Amino acid sequence: MPRRSFYSAVIVGLNAIMGAALALPTLAYLLIPTRSRKKSDFVDAGDISQLTIGTPVEMSFQQSRIDGWRAVTEKRTAWVVKTAENKVVAYGPQCTHLGCAYHWEDASKQFVCPCHNSFFSIQGAVLTGPAPRPLDRYVTKIENNRLQVGALKPSDEAKG
Ligand code: FES
Repeated sequence: MPRRSFYSAVIVGLNAIMGAALALPTLAYLLIPTRSRKKSDFVDAGDISQLTIGTPVEMSFQQSRIDGWRAVTEKRTAWVVKTAENKVVAYGPQCTHLGCAYHWEDASKQFVCPCHNSFFSIQGAVLTGPAPRPLDRYVTKIENNRLQVGALKPSDEAKG
């Protein structure tokens, strides 16, 4: 092979390698879908066997969500009320007025939001205050005495 042809072949080969090095990541970005969603939207929030019926407990758990192509894991909390053996209700941690954190007051047996004095019953219903709707609820299921928490929904949607 003449020297000129050899150099031409080398240059063409190097161009092809550089082109592939630039094109492959772009093609992968365009053609491969973002991280596939987890099979289950439920996350484990903990053991409920030790909860007392009728006494709300704040439980925390880690929940992941997809933000573009990044998976973001955040700490979440829920106020969990055991209503019967193997039956719980998990409320979102924010007041339905303007989103303040509320808490359970054992003395009055109510959820209290101190920001603008909204009060909620143990069933999540608004008793008094400016809160426009009952506490939001997580979709839940129980597996082997462990609470599995799903999406947070307005109370009427989560029930049905
Ligand atoms: S945010 Fe709770 S009463 Fe306003």
